Order: sequence, then C-alpha cells, then structure tokens
Amino acid sequence: MWIGSQKAMEALGVKIAACLRAGDCVFLIGDLGAGKSVLARAIGRALGVAGPMPSPSFGLLIPHEGRIRVNHFDLYRLEDYEEFLAAGLEEALLDECAVSLVEWPEILGGQAPVPRLEVRIAHTGEPDAREVSLLCIGMEDRSCEF
Ligand SMILES: Nc1ncnc2c1ncn2[C@@H]1O[C@H](COP(=O)(O)OP(=O)(O)OP(=O)(O)O)[C@@H](O)[C@H]1O
Ligand SMILES: [Mg+2]
Repeated sequence: MWIGSQKAMEALGVKIAACLRAGDCVFLIGDLGAGKSVLARAIGRALGVAGPMPSPSFGLLIPHEGRIRVNHFDLYRLEDYEEFLAAGLEEALLDECAVSLVEWPEILGGQAPVPRLEVRIAHTGEPDAREVSLLCIGMEDRSCEF
C-alpha cells in the first residue's frame, strides 16, 4: 500500500495495534530511515505506552509498559541468531504477555516467532512517501483491517 506521509504511517500503526494481542510479534523490515521506528512508536502509543520510545539501537531491547507490555527490539547490530541468544533476548521475544516490535529481524531467520505480522517498508521516489506491504502469519483467527 502507498503511505503518503509520516502522519499516514502513524495512522497505519494505530490500525495495526488494533489487531494485535499479547504474544504477537511485529517484524519491521526496511532500509535505514525507512520508518520502522516511526511505525513502532505509533503502534506502541496505540497500545498505551505513555513515555518516550527512543530507538533501542544500542540497547537492542527497550521494554515498555502500556496496556500490555511492548518489547521494542532493534537487532541491527547483531550478526546472527547465536548473538541474539547470547544477548539473552529470546525470553523477551517469546514473552506471551507482550507484543514484540522488532526492527531488523532478519537474523532471526527460521526462528521467527508465530503469530507474527511482517511489515515491509520501502522508500519511494518521494521523500515522505513509502510503499508498505503487510503479511500476517498464524493470525488467521482474527480479522485485521489495514
Ligand atoms: N511516510 C513516512 N513514514 C515514516 N517515516 C517518514 C515518512 N516520511 C518521512 N519520514 C521520515 O523518515 C525517517 C524515518 O526514521 P526512522 O527512525 O523511523 O527509520 P528506521 O527505519 O527506524 O531507521 P533505522 O534503520 O535507522 O532504525 C524519520 O525522520 C521520518 O520523519
Ligand atoms: Mg529505527
């Protein structure tokens, strides 16, 4: 889908949040500056996170308490799944009481949790527009309207 502005991206985050449940995972896939953090913040806000949601880049994981827990990951700096395990991040990713928002999830490979929503964000020729695609995996038990 065509997302014409940051505001439209934030509105998409509200719609995504409306169909999420504790135990779900959202993969945020896209290049540097695509808008993964912008979308993660919008989802977090809509899930009731009140404070700031800084980028977890150096912390790898920042947990937030909203109406449900929101675990915001940024795995950019990790080389592979072994490093993910060594960093002790698996428990938070699989937390049944939280929604996990994962920037740079590619290193999870075959270990990607289900249910999950994969969001792909691509730059376009226009500076404030993005092309976004959404793929639900193991979320057949609910109806999501994006
Ligand atoms: N339609 C849009 N959706 C999202 N962000 C947009 C849009 N248009 C412009 N922007 C801008 O693009 C930037 C996106 O930054 P953001 O930190 O969300 O990217 P990111 O994908 O998380 O990058 P990184 O890989 O560095 O974590 C912000 O400066 C934001 O204002
Ligand atoms: Mg980011």
